[in-house]
Amino acid sequence: MLTTAANEMLTRVGPGTPMGNLMREYWIPACLSSELKADGEPMRLLLLGEQLIAFRDTDGRVGIMEHRCPHRCASLFFGRNEEGGLRCVYHGWKFDVEGNCVDMPNVKEEQDFKHRVKAKAYKVVERSGFIWTYMGTRAEPPALPSLEVLQLPEADRMTRVHQRECNWFQSLEGDIDTSHFGFLHVGGLKIDDVDPNTIHRWGIMDRAPDYKATETEWGTMYAAYRDADPGNVYYRFAHFMFPFITLTPNGSFEDQVACTLNVPMDDTHTLTYNLAWTKKTRPLETLKNGDWIPGIAPDMKFRPNTNDWYGRHRLVARRENDYFIDRDMQKNVNYTGIQGIGRQDQAAVECMGEIVDRSLEHLAPSDRMIAITRKRLIDACQKLMNEKKAPPLVDDPDACRRARGGSFVAPAKLDWLDAYAEKLQTALSPLNLLERLPLAAE
Ligand code: FES
Ligand SMILES: [Fe+2]
Repeated sequence: MLTTAANEMLTRVGPGTPMGNLMREYWIPACLSSELKADGEPMRLLLLGEQLIAFRDTDGRVGIMEHRCPHRCASLFFGRNEEGGLRCVYHGWKFDVEGNCVDMPNVKEEQDFKHRVKAKAYKVVERSGFIWTYMGTRAEPPALPSLEVLQLPEADRMTRVHQRECNWFQSLEGDIDTSHFGFLHVGGLKIDDVDPNTIHRWGIMDRAPDYKATETEWGTMYAAYRDADPGNVYYRFAHFMFPFITLTPNGSFEDQVACTLNVPMDDTHTLTYNLAWTKKTRPLETLKNGDWIPGIAPDMKFRPNTNDWYGRHRLVARRENDYFIDRDMQKNVNYTGIQGIGRQDQAAVECMGEIVDRSLEHLAPSDRMIAITRKRLIDACQKLMNEKKAPPLVDDPDACRRARGGSFVAPAKLDWLDAYAEKLQTALSPLNLLERLPLAAE
């Protein structure tokens, strides 16, 4: 459980809040590059509780600024995106991507004061298929995160995004809540249905494993572990990475590099970006005959986007339709009666309410990762607030390169952190693999 005050600190991200200040120390993914076209429509963008406008100018540069025009506060959503800037339709003032007022046509030339007017605009960088923005106070922003999966060409990586109608940390806790996998997703699965050669069978045979968890340079990490064949242990490793990233064990440690970014739109809405590179030969989610585990195949249908603040990347299955739960399916096919891992996760994290009251919980040993992650985040907020200490990774972005999620089997005599370090050394880097690919084709 958590006190109400601690829960408030963890979940509120608006300007001036402790967690909002912490998040603003980092570059934030504002949207996908593909969502903005040169001279195209300005887009309403809700980020960390701020109502912003994003647009791409004639030269392809992106601007992100306060949505209210600095003249008389008409919304720049209605602006004309033309000839290198966004022109407010109320009185024609025009702003470039940095927020400079470059035209003030309703004022006589001798009264023009455009050089003294600036719209509140945030710094923007376009990288890895994302528009990143820095909403913090440093004159020189820190480096972008250097996660491997972000450095891969977009074509070599899967990118998915969807909105969750709940708080960002609730969404994130779903990623590091490892013990739900054996129930919510594969609770109906029998061991006889699983490939006897896959290491993942150990996870199905024992659904109440032991756990280790620790703080790291980048955040926190855990291993869920259980006995495998004699003398060996089956591990599932995962990480929380500041400020809102998780690396989860979606498959084998060697051949998948993935992360999820839980980006707060405001306190009660989150955009969840899933990025993954894999060379998986047999997905975790299949039976020994190669079929999908019943009821687990993805079924993520989207509502059409709208111009509303909350109008992007919304799923058809949602709280209001109970995620299309089918009680016959629940009796006869899968554990939940809800189709697909993604929708099952969505239901679990949203059904608690927009911001869960954590004073009602009874955490178990299986929730150790959740408990230390909350503590790590609250400690970092307090250090920033009281000692002006920058949170993890801000001044050491490369530390995140030592984090990877995944499953593997290791000798039981090895300490869990030694087993992790050893595995990390032999794991495939997708960047190296990509470098080698042209040679292999020759
Ligand atoms: S309110 Fe925007 S130009 Fe007047
Ligand atoms: Fe899940």
